[in-house]
Amino acid sequence: MSLILGIESSCDETATAVVRDGTEVLSNVVVSQIDVHRSFGGVVPEIASRMHTEVIYQLAEKALTDAGLSLKSDQAPVTAVAATFGPGLMGSLLVGLGFGRALAAAWKIPFVPVHHIEGHLFSSFLSEKKPEFPFLALIVSGGHTQIVQCHAPHEYTILATTRDDAVGECFDKVARLLGLPYPGGPSIQKKAKDGDPTAYQFPRGLATKDTLDFSFSGLKTAVLYKLRKEPEASIADVAASFQYTAIDSLILKLHQAIEQTGLQRLVIAGGVAANELLRERAASLDVDLYLPPFAYCLDNAAMIAAAAHSRLRLGKNQPQDTAAVSTLSLQELSA
Ligand code: KG4
Ligand code: ZN
Repeated sequence: MSLILGIESSCDETATAVVRDGTEVLSNVVVSQIDVHRSFGGVVPEIASRMHTEVIYQLAEKALTDAGLSLKSDQAPVTAVAATFGPGLMGSLLVGLGFGRALAAAWKIPFVPVHHIEGHLFSSFLSEKKPEFPFLALIVSGGHTQIVQCHAPHEYTILATTRDDAVGECFDKVARLLGLPYPGGPSIQKKAKDGDPTAYQFPRGLATKDTLDFSFSGLKTAVLYKLRKEPEASIADVAASFQYTAIDSLILKLHQAIEQTGLQRLVIAGGVAANELLRERAASLDVDLYLPPFAYCLDNAAMIAAAAHSRLRLGKNQPQDTAAVSTLSLQELSA
């Protein structure tokens, strides 16, 4: 049996979890710093790392007690500890990575450094319906927008990436233009419910057949110009039209990627996978769809433990002394 304590501290959420055999979540604790960063309109790295330091011990203790285990036990209460080593904010990563590595050393058990995006991919294994390899994955978060061909566990080819903003970042920036609170994804989704998605026509970046890559900066600029030209425009209509276009751009490229690869299974993961319109539109694609439960779309540590379980099981653990990295593509990881 494997019992893994996962730790995630790459951005503005401190998270811990205990997962049995890579799929069964025994506890899942997330403390968000959003309220503190909101007044700055985005994440302030120095504040983020300080806040992780303040809560990490208590959160590890809570994840273990929620799972019926103890942090203070002499004997290791888990079989391994895993923590995100990147990509993310350097100071924030160092908190979880250092804490996790120290716990594993004290308990004399393996430490598993986990790539944040690989964690998002493995969140789909926390659902009732689990994907089988090979599959296509759309990773949509605040920092990433990628289509990844997942050949086998930990073997990836990146088929598409964004040439500028990530889709989550675009939701966050447009929300700011509309005067809606950070994070932008949920607030735009909420506002869009009262608006007409056909009220405005916004451009879909790189909407040609010759690339699978994404571009979202033109869409953001188009919203900015629309608001300048029509300051009295309905915020709900702009939010709905923007959301429709952003999601439609993702669906368009997914169509192309499915056609190109012939893959039958599609995983969607990352914060934007919580978007209701994306979930609804993706369900009508001609593939078997795998979505993480809502709770595991946003940053969490259960997904980190799930990815760690697979690496340990297959003997593919990263070196225990892996350093924190602010950027590293999933493909480099599998090379
Ligand atoms: O994966 P995540 O929690 O953190 C990163 O790794 O970046 O994703 C956060 C991103 C934010 O940009 C947020 O606005 C977006 O996910 N997001 C959403 C929704 N919920 C969160 N975007 C669109 N619709 C949502 N419902
Ligand atoms: Zn994330």
